[in-house]
Amino acid sequence: MSDKTAITLLGLGDMGSALGRAWLAAGHSLTVWNRTAAKVEPIVAEGARAADSAAEAVASATGPVVLCLLDDDSVGEVLEGADLQGRDLVNLTTGTPEQARKRASWAGERGARFLDGGIMAVPPMIGRPETGAYVYYSGDRELFERHREALEVPARAEYVGEDAGHAALHDIALLSAMTGMFAGITHAFALVAGEKELDLARFGGLLADWLQAMAGMSHEMAAHLASGNYTEGVTSNLAMMSAANESLLTTARDQGVDARLLAPYMELMRTRVEQGHGDEGLAGIVSLISRR
Ligand SMILES: NC(=O)c1ccc[n+]([C@@H]2O[C@H](COP(=O)([O-])OP(=O)(O)OC[C@H]3O[C@@H](n4cnc5c(N)ncnc54)[C@H](OP(=O)(O)O)[C@@H]3O)[C@@H](O)[C@H]2O)c1
Repeated sequence: MSDKTAITLLGLGDMGSALGRAWLAAGHSLTVWNRTAAKVEPIVAEGARAADSAAEAVASATGPVVLCLLDDDSVGEVLEGADLQGRDLVNLTTGTPEQARKRASWAGERGARFLDGGIMAVPPMIGRPETGAYVYYSGDRELFERHREALEVPARAEYVGEDAGHAALHDIALLSAMTGMFAGITHAFALVAGEKELDLARFGGLLADWLQAMAGMSHEMAAHLASGNYTEGVTSNLAMMSAANESLLTTARDQGVDARLLAPYMELMRTRVEQGHGDEGLAGIVSLISRR
């Protein structure tokens, strides 16, 4: 018998299946359940045990019960009717911070401990530490510590606090930053895509390098927001950047590109300059868009 933590996994979509395979590969015993039975067969062939129902899977769990379902509603549906008393729930289903907090209270009312997780990876990165995959966890610290070794198997585990909503908040914040980055990449390609002489593959590589170099700006913003001094050690000041935006907008127009992906952010930069903060970096824009 293995002395490794036994895992119960509810949900065998693309991500759930990848998680399950990582635990099996690391020698953990694995009990699985999925709404559509066809997805259970392949992983059972690899050594997992199939539970008859979600309730049976939960009832027989001796270790963490991991949920990797589509959304928070499906978590409620799948766990309805299961006896959660004394169970350790680890919810790796993407949701909002508020959903995670409500789900934590909901679990607590049913006698379960609760840990929420936000997966910063796509399925092929799971079980491959070299990819940099990790999962944010928040909620019951004791649960996290107890199962930490098993939780570290599919991807590095980053515990971010007792507030069950904080894993989702980190997850959503990173995805939001990614969305802005994708908008910038889309605009950049729209500018160059019509130019016959340009090698788009080369351009893509140069763009990726540039974005990587600029990503360090998040450290400067963190320092400014923490100190409240938005002008200290500014690398590029807002007045200069806002003035340069005119060239960006003119070039977009000349290239026949709609600048709607950039315009709202540029508008905020201009507003902050007009308010007399041209010597700052970008941190002041946080206060322009925050209601608290
Ligand atoms: N894939 C990614 O790149 C990725 C990355 C990070 C985080 N995530 C998160 O991981 C979670 C799972 O993603 P996935 O890629 O595995 O999605 P998926 O392939 O679409 O699988 C969804 C899973 O949820 C189940 N499900 C949906 N509605 C249900 C319901 N009402 N009752 C019971 N089961 C239900 C599905 O069961 P059936 O098989 O019966 O349909 C399936 O097991 C999501 O919250 C997603 O945001 C995914």
